[in-house]
Amino acid sequence: MHPNLRTIASPALPPLIRFGGSSSRTFTTSASFTRSLLPRIQQSQCNRCLSTSTPLLPRHTHARSTVDNVTSTISYQIQNRAIATTATAPDGAMFSHPPPEPGADFNVVMIGAGNIMFGSDEGPWNHSFRFEHKLGRRLKVTALIDPSTARAEKVLDGKRQSFVESAYKDTQVFRTIEDYHAALKSSKAADPHAIVVGCPPAYRGGTTKGTDLEINLLKLFPKTAYFIEKPVGTGTVEAAKDVTDALVKNGNIVSVGYMLRYLRCVQKMKQIIHENNLTVMATNARYSCAYEAIAKPAWWNKAIDMGPVIEQGTHFCDLSRYFGGDVDIDSVVARSVEWYEEPGRLSKVPIDESKIDEELRIPRLTSAIWKYANGAVGSFQHAVALQGTAYACELEVWADGYHMRLVDPYQSPTLYVRRPGDDHEERHSFTDDDPFFSEVSHFIDCIEGGPDPHILSSFEDATKTYELTWAIRLAAEASKWPQVKA
Ligand SMILES: NC(=O)c1ccc[n+]([C@@H]2O[C@H](COP(=O)([O-])OP(=O)(O)OC[C@H]3O[C@@H](n4cnc5c(N)ncnc54)[C@H](O)[C@@H]3O)[C@@H](O)[C@H]2O)c1
Repeated sequence: MHPNLRTIASPALPPLIRFGGSSSRTFTTSASFTRSLLPRIQQSQCNRCLSTSTPLLPRHTHARSTVDNVTSTISYQIQNRAIATTATAPDGAMFSHPPPEPGADFNVVMIGAGNIMFGSDEGPWNHSFRFEHKLGRRLKVTALIDPSTARAEKVLDGKRQSFVESAYKDTQVFRTIEDYHAALKSSKAADPHAIVVGCPPAYRGGTTKGTDLEINLLKLFPKTAYFIEKPVGTGTVEAAKDVTDALVKNGNIVSVGYMLRYLRCVQKMKQIIHENNLTVMATNARYSCAYEAIAKPAWWNKAIDMGPVIEQGTHFCDLSRYFGGDVDIDSVVARSVEWYEEPGRLSKVPIDESKIDEELRIPRLTSAIWKYANGAVGSFQHAVALQGTAYACELEVWADGYHMRLVDPYQSPTLYVRRPGDDHEERHSFTDDDPFFSEVSHFIDCIEGGPDPHILSSFEDATKTYELTWAIRLAAEASKWPQVKA
């Protein structure tokens, strides 16, 4: 089946699992477990099957009696939080990926010359960098589309002065996709292999003029593959569903940028669910951004970016759905802390919020709960509370006998797993994992028929996430306490 026709949110499907219990590569690394203060206690061989060669250390409470002071006892408890550690570079990580092979040009059109496409200090995203590393000298960015042509020319100048000059030396800048199409047809050049869409969501995911980028792309480049950033739009859910229908009917390759699905920790969680035939009972997601570093006025304005749940928390709503499956949208309830409430007062908002209409200022915290179609329960909290730069994000997945915790997916993705037969957690971390590279790598492999490619986020599936985030926003707004003006 074509990847775009497949919705891979079902918890029963393990779409990208290449490191199974039979794999000798991933889980046979040595562990970095340290227990220097502790005496090792003789224990019979544990027959619980752990997907790691790390020796199991004694974890029973009676062991504490061997430690004769309080400090050591505390050390013992802390050190024993993880019974097994997997720390390894993942298959497919950018730095372990084989160097790009020479070959025919791979023509890419980029829409949007902003942060997601060319990087910024805000985070690790930078699609151009990943395309360069996947394709090497084969990459030819034939056009960069941005109404801000000065911004486009500036990023191109930078690229042309670097070692990736060959990819950008002939890049033409256009204000619109229509201008590019006209120029392409008059030059009788071939359509691009891929179009990467990184413009703001207000210009896409809709059916009305100005919001209908995908519909236009389907008319102009129906055979080209599209990589489209999240969220799928800012318009109505119904319009996004219409766009989904048009894309599915057309049948070209489409991937949406929910990159966290490609994290090796996330795939490990999928593997555990699949191998143990688990039914997810609950997902608990917490996404706390570092608001002090978010200096885009649009982000603070619900009329432009639609609020932090739709713009940002969407990543964790999507991951929740990836494990929990389809959501009963009517079951969504939510509460928020609004900017005018005492707990919502923030001291370091980096923009001038007084310029934003009061009705359009974002909530500081949103907490939601819902039922999945199979009866499981999901909960989600988005907080605009942290300062500094690092986000604090955690996703828990619960099933009979199992508790999986994905911690710090942006900086240092780590997975903690508690399984039946043991009260303690094993820990898995994958060094050098780069989900941004993986999503690009799979997208290109899908286009080129590479080995075992998987697109983990279809437009159809991403639209379901969009629907969930809107349901959360609407439920929170419907129940918010009104502002009391003095
Ligand atoms: N997956 C992630 O982790 C991640 C990270 C950052 C951004 N994003 C997403 O990427 C998208 C863009 O975000 P950004 O941070 O790059 O924004 P940005 O403001 O930095 O850049 C957007 C660019 O698009 C241009 N643009 C505006 N209208 C356009 C149009 N009609 N056609 C073409 N270009 C147009 C702007 O001039 C600007 O240069 C958003 O949907 C955002 O949510 C995703």
